[in-house]
Amino acid sequence: MGFHVGNPKSAADLVQAHQVHRDVYISPDVYALEMKHVFANAWVFVGHESQTPKKGDYFATQIGNQPVIQVRHKPDDIHVLLNRCPHKGTKIVIDRQGNTGKFFRCPYHAWSFKTDGCLLAIPLKKGYEGTGLEKTQNGKGMKAVGAVKNYRGFIFARLADEGISFEEFFGDSLSSLDNMVDRSPEGRLEVVGPPLRYMHYCNWKMLVENQTDTCHPMVAHESSAGIAVKLYEELNLPKGAPKPAAMQIIAPFMSPYEFFEGMGIRTWPNGHGHTGVHHSIHSDYSAIPGYFEAMVETYGEEKAKTILDENRHNTVYFPNIMIKGPIQQLRTFIPLAADKTIVESYIYRLVGAPDELTARTAMYNRMINAPTSIVGHDDLEMYERAQEGLHVNGLEWVNISRLLEDDENHEGEAVLNGTTERQMRNQFDAWRKFMTYDQDQQEAAK
Ligand code: FES
Ligand SMILES: [Fe+2]
Repeated sequence: MGFHVGNPKSAADLVQAHQVHRDVYISPDVYALEMKHVFANAWVFVGHESQTPKKGDYFATQIGNQPVIQVRHKPDDIHVLLNRCPHKGTKIVIDRQGNTGKFFRCPYHAWSFKTDGCLLAIPLKKGYEGTGLEKTQNGKGMKAVGAVKNYRGFIFARLADEGISFEEFFGDSLSSLDNMVDRSPEGRLEVVGPPLRYMHYCNWKMLVENQTDTCHPMVAHESSAGIAVKLYEELNLPKGAPKPAAMQIIAPFMSPYEFFEGMGIRTWPNGHGHTGVHHSIHSDYSAIPGYFEAMVETYGEEKAKTILDENRHNTVYFPNIMIKGPIQQLRTFIPLAADKTIVESYIYRLVGAPDELTARTAMYNRMINAPTSIVGHDDLEMYERAQEGLHVNGLEWVNISRLLEDDENHEGEAVLNGTTERQMRNQFDAWRKFMTYDQDQQEAAK
């Protein structure tokens, strides 16, 4: 028997400093509360501006379980609208992306809307005279999300009308996004192609936690990375022979515990954090000819070195994305149900950098994160087994206490041993905060 999870406060009781109750992963009630509170009160990644480059371009996705449309209204103005006709609820767009021209038109009764959501026209409008329609949201047009921010090309939105500001929510964690963008000699990124997507029959938080779980690679990936390393060693290539890019990518997954301890983990308030403070599995990739030169031309040698020496591994932005600056990847974990998550893995091109870099990034994505990947499926197996195993009665708690300190709190930045589970605890601290955020604000206002 679990707790009765009827409201955000009782859900918050499922999280303790050293453990979390299994209901945070398996209960449909908790999932519904997360969608209504965590995903509404936090700033959630929507898409990249390069996915909607021209006026009228749109991209359809979800914030939590809410369907939204990212649309380019003017050359420098991107809006995020709820994908729901204000008349009777019909979803306005069905395609993942496209160009809607000057307006959206609902396929049911042809109400039409400007690309900022404002109502443009209703057929037989006279029939609404005197009904007061214009005073209601239905008569105003497609509803926008509460707030939108374009940060260096990345579009984030907050569903709630009121709440934490973008700057306060992310704070210094934006340094990881900055580094990813700064790696372009033109300071600009572009999404390359559609993402690799595949379904995971597990809770979305398992995927997010895995991004900073440094005690699993050498174990869970032994069957893929371990075999690759063994076969490569058996080739007995002469010392100093150039290592193929695929081996440079996969071999570090077999690094020993000391490597991951030494890499370090940094955490920031509101659930953000990253592995790879001192070095990472991306540190020893070979240089791509012409790239450093292009960077020096833009930034000068010293700054170019500083940018490229930053080899952060996985940066988690609470609640549900992970970016890798050095390999220009962004993964989003979209929660569809308590036990169902779709993962999208995007790659980015560093504008102005040699194409060989993009080729390596694409190779990384295929090898590690594709539906046909050899590495990602090791993790998938673990998540799905955990999702099933959590239903075993008699033990209802999941442990998250590795390297827990007595006086631990998540109000400031911290840098620790890279095998700590502090970032998982940091995420749950934020989870509690945003689960009860609106309720806490209301109570404080009384
Ligand atoms: S439901 Fe959209 S116009 Fe009627
Ligand atoms: Fe993994």
